Amino acid sequence: MNIVVCVSGGGTNLQAIIDGIRNGKISNTKITGVICNNAGAYALTRAKEAGIDGICISPKDYSDRDEFNRAFLDKMKELNPDLIVLAGFLVTIPREMVETFRNRIINIHPSLIPSFCGVGYYGLKVHEAALARGVKVTGATVHFVDEGTDTGPIIAQKAVEVLPGDTPKILQQRVMEQAEWIILPQAIDMIASGQITVTDGIVQK
Ligand code: GRF
Repeated sequence: MNIVVCVSGGGTNLQAIIDGIRNGKISNTKITGVICNNAGAYALTRAKEAGIDGICISPKDYSDRDEFNRAFLDKMKELNPDLIVLAGFLVTIPREMVETFRNRIINIHPSLIPSFCGVGYYGLKVHEAALARGVKVTGATVHFVDEGTDTGPIIAQKAVEVLPGDTPKILQQRVMEQAEWIILPQAIDMIASGQITVTDGIVQK
């Protein structure tokens, strides 16, 4: 299964996928491209060190969003992956890409959806909201991407304890280490081995 991973930042989830393929936790999968909207992202360094083509494409390089969306979709069609993985990717996926790659785009979100998700909930903001609400358990979710924001069929979730004294940064790190970097490779492996189907918007394993 050929995958393209879309990133915007540090690329720790990309690294978990690279490592998972190397150590056999992810079977039958090859990363054929990394797309990034931020030329300075360390994720591009991780891709380069792993010998993977890094492609930088940003809405900032185009006169309007429609032009970017067309260029982004053209590039994705050219790469033609079996699966698109959004790993810390902060750009809205064009509707036409969701339609073209229906149930072939997955995203990792750092909360237990439907909590602390949707427009405006990304990165540290998610953990700030969880701490502000006083939840005792949070976690991460892998889901298929549909036309909404964090609203597609849920594939995998993993819970993580919130501890006294947690700051957003400490909690983010624990959620990445104990949840994101585990369930994202697992989800990719399950899809690669044909274990996942979607029926009436619900994932069947
Ligand atoms: C992480 O908080 C992750 O949950 C979210 O994006 C942030 C950066 O991820 N999806 P990464 O280190 O770039 O993979």
